[in-house]
Amino acid sequence: MKGVLGRSALRGLLPSLRVPDSRWLMRPNSGGSSWTQERTLVALKPDGIQRRLVGAVIQRFERRGFKLVEMKMLQAPESILAEHYQDLQRKPFYPALIIYMSSGPIVAMVWEGYNVVQASRAMIGHTDSTEAASGTIRGDFSIHISRNIIHASNSVEGAQREIQLWFQSSELVNWAEESSHSSSYPA
Ligand code: PPS
Repeated sequence: MKGVLGRSALRGLLPSLRVPDSRWLMRPNSGGSSWTQERTLVALKPDGIQRRLVGAVIQRFERRGFKLVEMKMLQAPESILAEHYQDLQRKPFYPALIIYMSSGPIVAMVWEGYNVVQASRAMIGHTDSTEAASGTIRGDFSIHISRNIIHASNSVEGAQREIQLWFQSSELVNWAEESSHSSSYPA
């Protein structure tokens, strides 16, 4: 006996409910083939690694519908951190920020999808953990700005700069070519 009811059988059992076509669920009604191609850099900071939050963070991004394009765990070189945070070099917290970011490995990731830069910023929450809303990553896992778990690029231009800083372009997976057969969203 088949364990799963077909769509027509479901329609019979639930005449007042419409059973959605799975393609309708998977393919938002938007034109063009490049609408999912925005990319951003997300980095789990050393406290995120030490607190075993890598899986929880990845799960949130995957469940939201974004594609993981590349990921690596590394001890961040000070030269790259200096470039990454170049706009902050005059801030009083800059030395402490570099020490914090060098205090253990980080996990750098590139995520891809529609509006991913803005969506990632919303998902991670306010920079200052005391202001971060519950349900955001910082709001759920962090209590202080100096240990705020995670970084995400704050603009599309910033994301492009940061991705180039942390990854070689040859490292980035092209989902359109590599896995179009298994993609939930159109490439
Ligand atoms: S923004 O919008 O993310 O650029 O926010 P901003 O407030 O400008 O902060 C820039 C980065 O500096 C970090 N930051 C701090 N680190 C340690 N201590 C203090 N007090 C502090 N204040 C700000 C903040 O987390 C941002 O780094 P990222 O890596 O983007 O989280």
